[in-house]
Amino acid sequence: MRSTSIKEILSSDPASQNVVVNGWVKSFRSNRFIALNDGSTLHNIQCVVDFEKIDEALLKQINTGAALKVTGTLVESQGRGQKVEIQVSEVLVHGGADPEVYPIQPKKHSMEFLREQAHLRVRTNTFSAVMRVRSALAFAIHQYFRENGFYYFHAPIITGSDAEGAGEMFRVTTLDQKNPPLNDDGSVNHKEDFFGKETNLTVSGQLEAEAYAMGLGKVYTFGPTFRAENSNTSRHLAEFWMIEPEMAFYDLNDNMDLAEDFIKSVIKYVLTHCEDDLSFLEKRLLDEEKTKPQAERSEMALIEKLKFVSENSFKRVTYTEAIQILRNSKPNKKKKFQYRIDEWGADLQSEHERFLVEKHFKCPVILFDYPAKIKAFYMRLNEDGKTVRAMDILFPGIGEIVGGSQREERLDVLKEKMAALEIPEEELWWYLDLRKFGTAVHSGFGLGFERLVLFATGMGNIRDVIPFPRTPQNAEF
Ligand code: 4AD
Ligand code: MG
Repeated sequence: MRSTSIKEILSSDPASQNVVVNGWVKSFRSNRFIALNDGSTLHNIQCVVDFEKIDEALLKQINTGAALKVTGTLVESQGRGQKVEIQVSEVLVHGGADPEVYPIQPKKHSMEFLREQAHLRVRTNTFSAVMRVRSALAFAIHQYFRENGFYYFHAPIITGSDAEGAGEMFRVTTLDQKNPPLNDDGSVNHKEDFFGKETNLTVSGQLEAEAYAMGLGKVYTFGPTFRAENSNTSRHLAEFWMIEPEMAFYDLNDNMDLAEDFIKSVIKYVLTHCEDDLSFLEKRLLDEEKTKPQAERSEMALIEKLKFVSENSFKRVTYTEAIQILRNSKPNKKKKFQYRIDEWGADLQSEHERFLVEKHFKCPVILFDYPAKIKAFYMRLNEDGKTVRAMDILFPGIGEIVGGSQREERLDVLKEKMAALEIPEEELWWYLDLRKFGTAVHSGFGLGFERLVLFATGMGNIRDVIPFPRTPQNAEF
């Protein structure tokens, strides 16, 4: 007989039908009840077994974490909290989990401990809930773009360009590290490397997406990106997933409209499709926040916060206005910011972004028209000659979740900018071609997928919303 998923069983009628389920033991009690979970849902199915009738050797193996196949009859449950349960006629142990050594026991484990058990942590309620929400968000993203006329575009992972110009790249090479071929001046001869040039893992698929937007109209990437920045924070990963839509004939306003609509739409999707998991995560967050001082607790519970964001307009503010607000803010005057805001042109730190969102506006904020000096080379220069058509979306508890811009489509202006930043034209000849042949206004943005998952799940650390996090000094698993 084919086995049924627990999710399916829990929503079916107890018509005394015979069922087979597979899953892992969550808990067992009173020598009668086994709670089984197979990952299809947060909820367990209660299996009622007469332990006395089970062979002793088999019984010994029925511990938390053991994988079982259970055959029995689905009946109306006598207990509270569930509609149906299984009266078990046969138990088969696929594999036991020795309680002496199995790390995931039915008690509260710290997030730090679970990170060291990243291969097993998905068997906890918290991580299975997070990963189901993550999966649903990924689906919602593809669905949104599909319904809005975008094509899914696959940017290369190995590239020769540094799109963001921050130099935070992982090198890709097959040269012998101990004995690389050298040029006459002693530098490494990359002509002998696999690709005949220096290459790295991509920090962004944007430049390539621009090429495709200028032919397909509207495209988006959804793939892994890599940054070798040594930021050991709860918001940074060395390998993260980014969604980058790129649209021909969109200006910055169109870009902001799209970004806002997109984020609201995918949050609405999880609100309607992940109710159980979100309720569980909301409760988890409330419990966690009880341990924090009042001032650090969030004002809204998780689901209320998600609804708030999906139903209210984001506040749009220029960088210049934001600087005014920050300069006159209490924490700035009282020197509470680690980085004081004195002058126009200062780069905003996470503390400033969070002040604007959490204390001042109390809603998501889109900051735009940033100083050219603190943004990437490809952003379109404004008439004032000193700001660019950039936009960042800032979220409560997260800070920057989206970074985007209208792109510089004018060949001469782009060339000037590259020259000023000493970016050789030979390296980006193809990118300049896009401005030579049929150039047009175009825009796009990048959404950090894990930052979105952080927001949607209320988790506190980005390491806990990706299956196997990559951070400085950490690539186990
Ligand atoms: O602001 P960023 O650097 O923008 C770009 O890469 C542009 N090329 C995007 C575009 O216009 N197509 O990165 C975009 C987003 C950030 O807002 C943040 O959410 C996320 O990517 N991000 C990270 N997420 C996790 N770990 C890191 N180290 C991240 N760096 C950026
Ligand atoms: Mg950014």
